[in-house]
Amino acid sequence: MSTVASQGEIVVGLDIGTTKVCAVVGEIAEDGITILGVGSVPCRGLRKGIVSNIDWTVRSIKDAIEAAQTMAGVEIRTVYAGVAGSHIRSQASDGVAAIAGGEVARADVERVLEGARAIPVDADRQILHVLPREYIVDTQDGIRDPIGMSGVRLGAKVNLVTAATSCVQNVIRCAERCGLVVADVVLEPLASAEAVLSDDEREIGAAVVDIGGGTTDILLYIDGGIAHASVVPVGGNNITNDIAAGLRTPMAEADRLKRLFGCSLGRMVADDEEIEVPGVGGQKPRRTPRRVLSDIIEPRVEEIFAVVRKRIEDTGLLEQLSAGVVLTGGAVLLEGTTELAEEILGMPVRIGFPTGVRGITQLVHGPQYATGVGLVRYGAQAVADAHARAATPAHSMMRLTSAAAAAAKREDAPGLAKGDEPPKSSKLWEWLKAAF
Ligand SMILES: Nc1ncnc2c1ncn2[C@@H]1O[C@H](COP(=O)(O)OP(=O)(O)OP(=O)(O)O)[C@@H](O)[C@H]1O
Ligand SMILES: [Mg+2]
Repeated sequence: MSTVASQGEIVVGLDIGTTKVCAVVGEIAEDGITILGVGSVPCRGLRKGIVSNIDWTVRSIKDAIEAAQTMAGVEIRTVYAGVAGSHIRSQASDGVAAIAGGEVARADVERVLEGARAIPVDADRQILHVLPREYIVDTQDGIRDPIGMSGVRLGAKVNLVTAATSCVQNVIRCAERCGLVVADVVLEPLASAEAVLSDDEREIGAAVVDIGGGTTDILLYIDGGIAHASVVPVGGNNITNDIAAGLRTPMAEADRLKRLFGCSLGRMVADDEEIEVPGVGGQKPRRTPRRVLSDIIEPRVEEIFAVVRKRIEDTGLLEQLSAGVVLTGGAVLLEGTTELAEEILGMPVRIGFPTGVRGITQLVHGPQYATGVGLVRYGAQAVADAHARAATPAHSMMRLTSAAAAAAKREDAPGLAKGDEPPKSSKLWEWLKAAF
């Protein structure tokens, strides 16, 4: 078995969202990740980001995987799956370890992170991610990458992301019932941020706000590290519900009107614009000012951003978000949303489109694909980490996350790599290190 990555290795992101399941197939090439296939199908098996109907979810996953497989021309066996929902929490923790050889090695970093995760967690919850904020070598703090530094004592400040075990298990169970192996379960906003945030933004402080159908996910980056993660159980579906009730029109029509004519800022809509609203129960369609539609939408979007602002304020980090907010998720496609967000959040706001991949990117161009693309990028990094681990002497290796173990295991799985390409060249390795 090769201990280094192979060119042509396939990484699949599975975004199980409240409105759609999206499978994105990426291939690790020498100079980047190439998107080979995408399968996106509607899903009704989730409520507010949490699996509520296994059978419906399984059916959508099967369809999405099949579509992605057909397009990519590869067999999908392993996926990186997303998880969200208001059960997600983040909390600060820290750890300390002695530096074994006078110079920080990968094993020291893994030991200090292992220590940081050793805190009591409720029996029904599990740690999803250990996200380093900074390392401290002896008395020097604010270190991003301590490997190679001299010292006797290594400290780490981290953020632990925890989730309800049952919610995570349901995601895994759904994927397994489709014959898939879940390499890792990844916090959805972490994946979205992977796809839409630039290094500069992480560095100077930014928030990623992913407004999907059922949830609004918030992730704060300060000084290059993740400082806070949370999930609010409201999203685009609440806007659709308001429209259906307010205009007395079927849900499907409400969603269509929202996408075609919706606007989050009433003042951007001309007074004389009119739309045709289909009736319910066989009633005739009627013409209504478009302004009525935006008058329904605006308060709900306002409410979502007010909650986002409150969550950020509660962390005490609002002032440190110098790069502002990057919005992503399907609901931010509503006209006027960026402008309204800027007014309520009081900082610069932009829409984040998935970046950092090549290939058929036109199929994953929209902000609603940020999570799927981000899962592929996350998976590629996990593969790179697993190979780095494999390259370290066996006695100094420690299992840190399920991602590393599962990603390493993937090397044994035939059918994952596309073709029989030779082992990864050192050039690819250099690229992987530079890319992540
Ligand atoms: N062009 C558009 N204009 C307005 N809203 C849109 C548009 N396209 C999609 N949406 C809305 O975006 C939402 C779906 O976004 P997305 O696909 O990111 O959600 P999801 O990932 O399925 O859900 P979640 O992340 O909350 O679990 C829906 O409410 C949909 O109506
Ligand atoms: Mg989503």
